[in-house]
Amino acid sequence: MKIPVLISADLIHKKVKSLSKQISKDYINKHPLLISILNGAFVFTADLIRHLTIPVRCDFMRVSSYNQSTQSSGRIKIIMDIDSPVKNRDIIIVDDIIDTGLTTRYIINRLKRRKPRSIKLCALLNKPSRRIVPIKIDYCGFTVPNKFVVGYGIDYKEQYRQLHYIGYLPG
Ligand code: IMP
Ligand code: MG
Repeated sequence: MKIPVLISADLIHKKVKSLSKQISKDYINKHPLLISILNGAFVFTADLIRHLTIPVRCDFMRVSSYNQSTQSSGRIKIIMDIDSPVKNRDIIIVDDIIDTGLTTRYIINRLKRRKPRSIKLCALLNKPSRRIVPIKIDYCGFTVPNKFVVGYGIDYKEQYRQLHYIGYLPG
């Protein structure tokens, strides 16, 4: 299937660089723990950290809420948790896209119980039209319309993660 372009690779790279720059500035003299939400955020995270000019620790959490479809099931499951201690750390959650916000809220609430010093959210994409719970995105790449997007790590049924750009499923 041909996947139409929504956000070009060039635009993504410029944006990722500027987000890294902002994070490096805000966390100067800090050593944040970056928590990448798998699987969707792996490409974004890999590009983001390579522009950072501050030391970071990276860890990964795997969460599932979608049962091989384009609709959130609303049931969130931690499939793989982080190993890193969270207590008194400055946490930056790195996610691919905030849609209903249910997954993010679940992750934030869970992490808060481990008493971090701070938690901020960095998301490549924001789809506000479908939001169910309010979510503050501290570092946001792009706002997207109510379409099912793929590429740059984001999948539809495990396909299209390898696209250099963000596209959408037509129809
Ligand atoms: P939420 O809990 O509804 O905010 O869903 C968040 C997660 O659902 C994201 O991190 C994605 O992994 C996935 N998701 C939401 N919208 C899309 C989309 O348009 N394409 C692919 N995955 C999506
Ligand atoms: Mg995700």
